[in-house]
Amino acid sequence: MTGTISTQTGSAHAGLLGIGAYRPSRVVTNAEVCEHIDSSDEWIRTRSGIIERRFAEPHETVQMMSVAASRKALDLAGVDPAQIDCVVVATVSHLMQTPAVAPLIAAELGATPAAAFDISAACAGFCHGVALGADMVRSGTAKYVLAIGVERLSDITDPTDRGTAFIFADGAGAAVMGPADVEGVGPVVWGADGSKYDLIRQNENWMDVVEMNQSEMPTLRMDGNPVFRWASFEMAKVAREALDRAGMTVDDLDAFIPHQANMRIVDAMARALKLPDHVAIARDIVYQGNTSAASVPLAAAAMLESGEAKSGDTALFIAFGAGLAYAAQVVTLP
Ligand code: UT7
Repeated sequence: MTGTISTQTGSAHAGLLGIGAYRPSRVVTNAEVCEHIDSSDEWIRTRSGIIERRFAEPHETVQMMSVAASRKALDLAGVDPAQIDCVVVATVSHLMQTPAVAPLIAAELGATPAAAFDISAACAGFCHGVALGADMVRSGTAKYVLAIGVERLSDITDPTDRGTAFIFADGAGAAVMGPADVEGVGPVVWGADGSKYDLIRQNENWMDVVEMNQSEMPTLRMDGNPVFRWASFEMAKVAREALDRAGMTVDDLDAFIPHQANMRIVDAMARALKLPDHVAIARDIVYQGNTSAASVPLAAAAMLESGEAKSGDTALFIAFGAGLAYAAQVVTLP
């Protein structure tokens, strides 16, 4: 047989059509964190920018938070769940190793029989999802895509570990992507540096836990300072490249929405990029902590809700973390 495989094309352009967020109900102060580690409210504020964060209650599962954020994004987009062709969930804290959580979320939303799968790119996961979603819309693989970033990091953070207990937190954010008249998602600049694999990691793999007959789950560990230096210096270059590849400069930006890893990293990137005064900078970390894959959509939703940014604004997304993995793109906010 010498038949030719038919192919398909999608929309010339893809765009973000709606962004939604879910913030867990329990507020955790720095004072509460300091009950378990030798630290202080002042140290945490000055070194990370965090004043408080949210931890999920038992009923606020990865699935529940994702569905709540997605319903808001779908409502804002005016897209029915049944129109979604693919659900991509970025998370490292869905504690069932298989199956993925995405099919459960898709089923609860009524987005069936959409393709549904999880991706593991840690804090950079949501921006990976946006890149995949936009490519699917443009290639015709899907007409509408739901990309979710969700974490319950409180489940996998050791409250007595001084290097991580004050920084990580919980939440969910979601974006609906679909066809657009003009381009709304610029080329992604993404990559990974596996030589820095150990800088943010689970302290033990599951096999070690079983072999050592331990009853405790593995938890996260981070060599914070090398990650801090890498993010502060290298990520500004990635951000600049994402602007270049979108054919833009910092003057074209209305908003800068980086991963909310540490306020000092946000400030260092803003300085390195020489962002003009008119660019609104996301500072959601102050009251949300570092929510890994959820942080960019949570910060974007907060800016749209508060009026700091508005629909049609040009924003730069950039996210980075364990792997070390990173991804950045220029987007038009929905
Ligand atoms: O989201 C994924 C990517 N993650 C990130 O991008 C996070 C990157 N890293 C960071 O945000 C920062 O490295 C941290 C906020 C985690 C730590 O800040 P740092 O300025 O890098 O602190 P450090 O580790 O260099 O430690 C400085 C000092 C040390 O004391 P000495 O040696 O100067 O006396 C530490 O022992 O701060 C001490 N220290 C603490 N003190 C109070 C370390 N952790 C704590 C703590 N409370 N929790």
